[in-house]
Amino acid sequence: MESANSPLFEPARIGPIELKNRFIKAATFEGMTHDGIPGPKLTGFHRRLAEGGIAMTTLAYCATEADGRLHDKMMYLHRGIEHPLRRLVDEVHGAGARVAGQVVHCGGFSKNRNLQRLKRPLGPSRGMNLLGAPAGMPIAGAMGPKDIDAFVRTFTDAGRLMKDVGFDAAEVHFGHGYGLSQFISPKTNRRTDEYGGSLANRMRLPLRALEAFREGAGDSLAVIGKISMSDGVKGGVSWEEGVRVAAMLDAAGIDGIVTSAGTSSFNPMLMFHGDSMAHGLIEQEKNPIARLGLKLFASRLFRDYPYEEIYLLEHAKRVREAVRCPIVYIGGCATRESAETLMREGFDFIQLGRTLIEDPDFVKHAMADPSYVSGCNHCNRCTALIEHPDGIRCVLHDPA
Ligand SMILES: Cc1cc2nc3c(=O)[nH]c(=O)nc-3n(C[C@H](O)[C@H](O)[C@H](O)COP(=O)(O)O)c2cc1C
Repeated sequence: MESANSPLFEPARIGPIELKNRFIKAATFEGMTHDGIPGPKLTGFHRRLAEGGIAMTTLAYCATEADGRLHDKMMYLHRGIEHPLRRLVDEVHGAGARVAGQVVHCGGFSKNRNLQRLKRPLGPSRGMNLLGAPAGMPIAGAMGPKDIDAFVRTFTDAGRLMKDVGFDAAEVHFGHGYGLSQFISPKTNRRTDEYGGSLANRMRLPLRALEAFREGAGDSLAVIGKISMSDGVKGGVSWEEGVRVAAMLDAAGIDGIVTSAGTSSFNPMLMFHGDSMAHGLIEQEKNPIARLGLKLFASRLFRDYPYEEIYLLEHAKRVREAVRCPIVYIGGCATRESAETLMREGFDFIQLGRTLIEDPDFVKHAMADPSYVSGCNHCNRCTALIEHPDGIRCVLHDPA
């Protein structure tokens, strides 16, 4: 098939594993584990993606402990879900794709009232917990030395479980305003000890977590890091500093870097571009206080970033130039032509989020047709469905 004659459809290595092509499903929280169990619906979602030809899927938001979840209807990595998790991994393998899990801790950004180890959400410094405010938890506390050690240990346990159930890769989340990102960002990290101040200090805990994860996971899994190249907020990580974050992860031996941007807490639209997420979120929000807050702050929180193809390209190129490890591009790749551009620019892999939610067969279609364009219109309504009882879907195909 002549149109498949492209590096996009050739295998490549990332860390200890080989991927059959360059397409990876990005972590998009599925909202399919309301009972905390990765059951048939979630498994079917990822199996379907595998059948569409991607090389690897990513199971979103695998919290490293119960208190690492944003709310208590999410899954967390523990021995109680070992069997269903192994079934999910086995089924995706059976459908021809590899499986990564996104390893995350929410830190001080949480609305989980059902905390187990902690009394309240903890981040690097005492500060506002905007997500928790409607749930009566407006303030996150600061971690003390013992909290930091306990936080880091959760990554070792997570790594061990992921190795035992057969994951091929782990995507450690260093971005988007979650726990590790809160330490990296000077906006949320105002510590004066060895974990705050200089970038080297702010990276100390994230690098410890990476090492701890590897200690549990061993050498057989590829360990990839997802970063925010910029927080997109005054006082946060700048684009220049984002390049240094990537270089430090590279120097620490990470197997690959996913070059995202923005934070869920301060500037989510930098991550997405396109129509404001506010419309869908206001429609879906059940808590009247949270709905009012969304209406009042929508224009400040959801800034205007018109959609354009591969909108993070210029910034991701800076990271590409600065590091040696494989780079996984993310952000607005919805056409075969964009994917070819990314190969020419030296990226190793491409993560697709909304494109694959709209068309799980994107890879097959792109392989057959060099001019293929996905039908995603970047309405961003799928992002508002992460707490919907049925989980996420593309509203263009299933508006109900
Ligand atoms: C419904 C939905 C849920 C998402 N959940 C996550 C998540 O759990 N973790 C994460 O790192 N990014 C999450 N994202 C962001 C995507 O991984 C990705 O960074 C973003 O969608 C831009 O890539 P795209 O243009 O290929 O969609 C989510 C995106 C969507 C659309």
